Amino acid sequence: MSTSPCATTIIGTGHFVPEKVLTNADLEKIVDTTDEWIVSRTGISERRIAADDEPTSHLATEAAKNAIENAGITAEDLDLIIVATVTPDTFFPATACYVQAKLGATNAVAFDISAACSGFLFALQTARHFINTGNRKTILIIGAEKLSSMVNWEDRNTCVLFGDGAGAAILQHRPLNEIQKTPTPTVLASVMGTNGALTDILRVKGGGSACPVTPENADDKLNTISMQGREVYKKAVTAMCQASEEAIEKAGLTAEDIKVVIPHQANIRIIEAIIDRLGLPRERAFVNVAKYGNTSAASIPIALDEACRSGVIKSGDHVLLVAFGAGLTWAATVVRW
Ligand code: COA
Repeated sequence: MSTSPCATTIIGTGHFVPEKVLTNADLEKIVDTTDEWIVSRTGISERRIAADDEPTSHLATEAAKNAIENAGITAEDLDLIIVATVTPDTFFPATACYVQAKLGATNAVAFDISAACSGFLFALQTARHFINTGNRKTILIIGAEKLSSMVNWEDRNTCVLFGDGAGAAILQHRPLNEIQKTPTPTVLASVMGTNGALTDILRVKGGGSACPVTPENADDKLNTISMQGREVYKKAVTAMCQASEEAIEKAGLTAEDIKVVIPHQANIRIIEAIIDRLGLPRERAFVNVAKYGNTSAASIPIALDEACRSGVIKSGDHVLLVAFGAGLTWAATVVRW
């Protein structure tokens, strides 16, 4: 491996969403809600729901195949796979291990990252460290979730928000002189943050070692998502703005230099608040929350792939990726495309 100064490049992206669509009209039949309420409060019109035989590793593998093809490599070229998820197939082994086997990526080490909706950017930053230290050369990072498996379908406060899906990217080590000759999307700067004092405003309380689900408490739905929506909303806007500003500054840029923002797709109002506070026109944000809802760790890589393939992101553009999630966790990354 080259020892000349190198950077982390993004050589391919991909995504996969399950076929089944659950519309707001469908939800009106399940809980006391309306299409009008959901659209006006969140911007969500529909979401995808994975089938019983489609665990998170299936969604992740399909997204990965798409990214591998887009990058023009083979699964054997991968030397590390990181899956960001809070809906793993099993507590252990890691979902990344199932993905490794399904892809036949026999040369890759595989592990999971749990950082909720910030998971993909935490995976990206982790992968970047492996690349920058010369430890790994070609890394598959995936954000994949089957949130429908941990939604309380009787709780209108949360069940309207979430959906299933997966997105992936292939990161590769490249010497800087090579990037100068052949421009390739390059990660310029990343920031991450955590505030563990606020774990209780968004979490799945039960099912883990602190609160196992037993026959006695099974009816309490402790292994489903619980959330203090307003608190989460406020913290999300503040943390995402701050992280964005820090990452932009670290990249040596100003907000005006950012051509496309790929925000975590939780809620259109959160996205608009961030864009407004950054002083950017709202058209700079790529938004697909209407189609998929909040797919947690999958939301940024799905949006990134759609933005790339639809020509929204052009060579040379500065792109800001920014996330927020349970933990609380947050992260922002600036890429020169
Ligand atoms: N349909 C109809 N009414 C609903 C509803 C639904 N699906 N969900 C909640 N309501 C009701 C509430 O029960 C409440 O009724 P009440 O006043 O009679 O008690 C009312 O709507 C207002 O609820 P409130 O929580 O104040 O609404 P809001 O304007 O804050 O919007 C969220 C709720 C969840 C959309 C908003 O807080 C939000 O987006 N939070 C962030 C959530 C998020 O993004 N989480 C993931 C982060 S990674």
